[in-house]
Amino acid sequence: MAITAATPEYDKKEYWVNRFEHESSFEWLVDAKTLLPILEEHVPHDSKIVQLGCGNSSLAFDAFDAGYTDILSLDYCENVIQRMVDETRRRYPVGDSGVPAGPRWRVMDILAMQDHLAPGSIDCAVDKCTMDAIACGDDAQATRINALERQVHRILKPGSHWFVLSYSSTRFDEFAPEAKDRWDKIIVPIEVSPSDAVSTSAGPVYQPAIYYYCYILRKL
Ligand SMILES: C[S@@+](CC[C@H](N)C(=O)[O-])C[C@H]1O[C@@H](n2cnc3c(N)ncnc32)[C@H](O)[C@@H]1O
Repeated sequence: MAITAATPEYDKKEYWVNRFEHESSFEWLVDAKTLLPILEEHVPHDSKIVQLGCGNSSLAFDAFDAGYTDILSLDYCENVIQRMVDETRRRYPVGDSGVPAGPRWRVMDILAMQDHLAPGSIDCAVDKCTMDAIACGDDAQATRINALERQVHRILKPGSHWFVLSYSSTRFDEFAPEAKDRWDKIIVPIEVSPSDAVSTSAGPVYQPAIYYYCYILRKL
């Protein structure tokens, strides 16, 4: 009898809502210590940043504390956004306006940002593992990836950047041909587990290094 492990439905909102009911923090792929130096090479601190699919990552807090004071994080799960709003109130003082300083949060479907964010209004979009989640599941994954590309292209100013942190070395290849022409790209491999030799009775066995990939896409 074949034993199969069910793959979580990362492309389904219900999966994430259920997960956030009992998970208070989790960092996908890399943490801010790894990402911020790459971001800071390309994006000035006074930039207007949008984080796509923030989950309960602490990236926005760490980026804010590093000097990125205009950062809006989006997720389609109401429960995780409420948790992050509560955490912001806990961490940052409330200003004269009654609004706490610190990063901002909004419930939003990033595949439908047209009703909320003006065209060409954002200096930088950051996606840490969210396109990976959107790319899971059924045959419509290419449709969803390209819908996200159009959404992000619309909100960014020309010449500004979209950072995509991914497990995949071929994520950009999945863009439609016309979408590929809309971006300059640099791919930075991030080594997360160096190659290693494990000794066995048959001698050393070499395990390959593991990489994640940071796509730095510049809107043409
Ligand atoms: C793999 S997690 C990454 C979370 C976070 N960026 C991190 O690095 O820890 C994917 C996140 O994207 C969110 N997400 C997936 N599809 C979305 C959509 N269409 N609109 C908004 N958020 C979405 C999920 O709710 C989840 O929080």
